[in-house]
Amino acid sequence: MLVDSFGRVATDLRVSLTDRCNLRCSYCMPPEGLDWLPKPELLTADEICRLVTIGVERLGIDEVRYTGGEPLLRRELTGIVARTAALRPRPRLSITSNGIGLARLAGPLAEAGLDRVNISLDTLDRDTFTRLAHRDRLQDVLAGLAAADEARLRPVKVNTVLMRGVNEHEAAGLLRFCLERGYELRFIEQMPLDAQHGWRREEMVTAGEILDMLTREFSLTPDDPGERGSAPAEIFLVDGGPARVGVIGSVTRPFCGACDRVRLTADGQVRNCLFATEESDLRGALRGGASDDEIAERWTAAVRGKRAGHGIDDPAFLQPSRPMSAIGG
Ligand code: GTP
Ligand code: 5AD
Ligand code: SF4
Repeated sequence: MLVDSFGRVATDLRVSLTDRCNLRCSYCMPPEGLDWLPKPELLTADEICRLVTIGVERLGIDEVRYTGGEPLLRRELTGIVARTAALRPRPRLSITSNGIGLARLAGPLAEAGLDRVNISLDTLDRDTFTRLAHRDRLQDVLAGLAAADEARLRPVKVNTVLMRGVNEHEAAGLLRFCLERGYELRFIEQMPLDAQHGWRREEMVTAGEILDMLTREFSLTPDDPGERGSAPAEIFLVDGGPARVGVIGSVTRPFCGACDRVRLTADGQVRNCLFATEESDLRGALRGGASDDEIAERWTAAVRGKRAGHGIDDPAFLQPSRPMSAIGG
């Protein structure tokens, strides 16, 4: 088991398959993109599957989420899903994606064993999308969402980061859009993980503000608060249910105390937290001929050193040098 010094157990493995992306969301990366990881530094599909296998068979991982950058840009994704769906005990499998390309891939991914998807959608307005993501791809995202639902990758979850003066006025409209289609929308507080280091606390739309905005148009009741467990979203029933909406207050209502996550970057480094300042090199171990036992040992040690929380409120807080796009959400 992957246990840290506070007794938290990591069972949810999040694997970044690439740091590349076909969008440039302003809260994530600059319009010109970033210096991508060189190909030889990326884990191969075989290396990824070997590490996931060790995680599942020896370390108690029961849920695997493939992220990016944009995970659909990794050609081997369907094969990786199929191979990891064959593991026993079979882990739950999901992706966090921007949706571009899902129109084509949702069916094959479901067939390969993918259980569900989380898709980012910050606006329903084409111009706002283009301004925010620096690419005119809203239609592709919407087609991807519909295809995911059609392929029964359910519940389809939608992630929205609200930004002051950009899309905050769309909160109710986005919720209506998702309610009509049976998608579960979660609003996310923006975190200091952008490559440009431009995050300002004053500019963040807080969970409290989001709830205030929504309750002007909907009646929200907490859905069994005891059930939140390690999930980042606080869930509310909309107008009495069964429809639900979530708010992920990563900054103002942190869930670090119940965190069950561990991450693997596309270049094979274990990160025990989104905000970790240190990583542990599994790729080096793999390529140096380490045995499964040795890799499991190194991984266990990496999780043991996890800090209590993200520390964003700490005056000495330092944003991690790896941006969100190179960690995976
Ligand atoms: P489920 O589908 O409910 O399992 O949610 P998920 O959190 O795994 O989904 P997703 O990967 O789409 O993440 C949603 C958002 O939660 C991300 O965009 C982040 O803002 C936030 N988040 C995810 N993991 C962490 C974490 O370990 N720490 C913090 N502070 N926020 C996180
Ligand atoms: N703060 C909060 N969420 C973010 N995401 C990307 N960057 C940030 C950030 N700085 C979200 C995306 C996507 C998921 C991978 O993480 O919207 O849904
Ligand atoms: Fe791409 Fe996701 Fe970053 Fe947007 S948030 S640029 S979709 S990796």
